[in-house]
Amino acid sequence: MNCGKFIVIEGLDGSGKGTQISLLAGELSRRKIPFQLTAEPTQYATGGLIRDALAGLTKRTPAEMAALFLADRTAHCENPVDGIGKLLSDGVNVICDRYYYSSLAYQGMDVGFEWLMPANLDCPAIIRPDLCVFLDVPTEVADGRIAAGRNSREIYETRDAIARVREKYFEVFGILPEGHKIKIIDASREPSAVAKDVWEAVWEVLG
Ligand code: TYD
Repeated sequence: MNCGKFIVIEGLDGSGKGTQISLLAGELSRRKIPFQLTAEPTQYATGGLIRDALAGLTKRTPAEMAALFLADRTAHCENPVDGIGKLLSDGVNVICDRYYYSSLAYQGMDVGFEWLMPANLDCPAIIRPDLCVFLDVPTEVADGRIAAGRNSREIYETRDAIARVREKYFEVFGILPEGHKIKIIDASREPSAVAKDVWEAVWEVLG
């Protein structure tokens, strides 16, 4: 049986990830390529705990947040009904909105890489993506888009946090071990121009 490809879309809050994922889904549908969209935090119980913490409803320590994302990711990979591993082995391509690159960038601001990296990258249950597309926007663009689209901000959406997360993503991309395919795309342009580059990167992996 064919194995699907696992593609992750990453970016700052306000990078236009949602728009680009919709455009990518449209293109895959038009071409009748089998795919499933998914996201982290997930819709599982662990995802609910994380969302409460992101909204500031529950207070969690940085290590707890890192561990919750790790547990959520493990469930996401291993769920026997709709987990990433199951979809891939059924020949379905998986497009995931955020994955462990988010943990390394966001939780990496507060907890040490010395355990965060192996916990995510070396856990046998956690599947390595075939491609990570990083939608890059300057901090001011991300901040402006968040301000325009929301009434309240989550814990990682302050202007200061956004700038630090962007730096952290680039730090992570610089130290990842061999075997990670990262495509950085300038997402401050027109959505259609960004979508064209996203499609090119995805097609290279699917084709
Ligand atoms: P979400 O509501 O999905 O935001 P967005 O639509 O902008 O992606 O919330 C995801 C938030 O969780 C976002 O601020 C990034 C953060 N996050 C982490 O801190 N670590 C992780 O491992 C993941 C997957 C997300």
